Amino acid sequence: MAQIKPTKKFVKNPIQGTKFAIAISSAKGGVGKSTFATNFALALKKSGCKVGLLDADIYGPSLPKLFSINGKPESQEGKLIPINKFDIQCMSIGFLTDEQTPMIWRGPMVTSAIKTFTQKVSWKDLDFIIVDMPPGTGDTQLTFAQEIKLDGAIIVSTPQEIALQDVKRGIRMFDKLGTKIIGLVDNMSFFKGDDGKKYDIFGTGGVKKTAEDFNKEFLGEIPIYPEVGKYGDQGKPIVEALPDHEATKIYMGLAERIKKEYLD
Ligand SMILES: Nc1ncnc2c1ncn2[C@@H]1O[C@H](COP(=O)(O)OP(=O)(O)O)[C@@H](O)[C@H]1O
Ligand SMILES: [Mg+2]
Repeated sequence: MAQIKPTKKFVKNPIQGTKFAIAISSAKGGVGKSTFATNFALALKKSGCKVGLLDADIYGPSLPKLFSINGKPESQEGKLIPINKFDIQCMSIGFLTDEQTPMIWRGPMVTSAIKTFTQKVSWKDLDFIIVDMPPGTGDTQLTFAQEIKLDGAIIVSTPQEIALQDVKRGIRMFDKLGTKIIGLVDNMSFFKGDDGKKYDIFGTGGVKKTAEDFNKEFLGEIPIYPEVGKYGDQGKPIVEALPDHEATKIYMGLAERIKKEYLD
């Protein structure tokens, strides 16, 4: 595996067309990163920001499904035009390839795709690009580390030990790269039954404790809401579909906060 070197040796290119780029990350898959990235992007939009969403998961893109996008992006003067959905500028490898075809790509091809998406897409007048990162610390992370400027990262995790192990690795990676970690989110932290009782499905308190151990901010919990999964599957995430839902309010609170922190 290639070693990630400290950031200062590299000249990093900002993504053109946006003020800030924020990565949504976790070292582990299946913790709800893409769900968070899409809903958070929608929440930022609702709070009045201009937002782009870059699905940087080359092997497992999920934006076409989560936003129900079937079209292919056009290109103009050698640049790809993002697809506009829910008033968000979107780009994903899934727009360019057949959904059924597995991506069997070597590292350099992944690197080249990420460079294309960050340098050869006409992102326009954005306040934020939200980057949905793939799990792990592989070629995509390395490409961002060495070449592309990120203005912050939010780490999403579920509370079980095995996920937290990976979170710690993720924190160390961003620290080493000199990317500011905005904070940690505890996703699917618990389930509240119809009886009003709280069920800690994956354990409890681990993400908050990890944040404290590493001196990072804890951004809060998002419980398990069946509607979050349902509306994602239907291609209209909950923030867009149910403005008054508790989950939507949590995403909105976070978005207002980040907006304030970066734009005010
Ligand atoms: N807060 C939540 N409540 C209920 N289901 C969730 C929640 N967050 C994520 N999910 C579900 O968990 C699964 C994995 O989420 P996904 O966003 O694809 O994870 P990742 O991008 O980290 O691999 C999806 O089926 C999604 O609907
Ligand atoms: Mg994902």
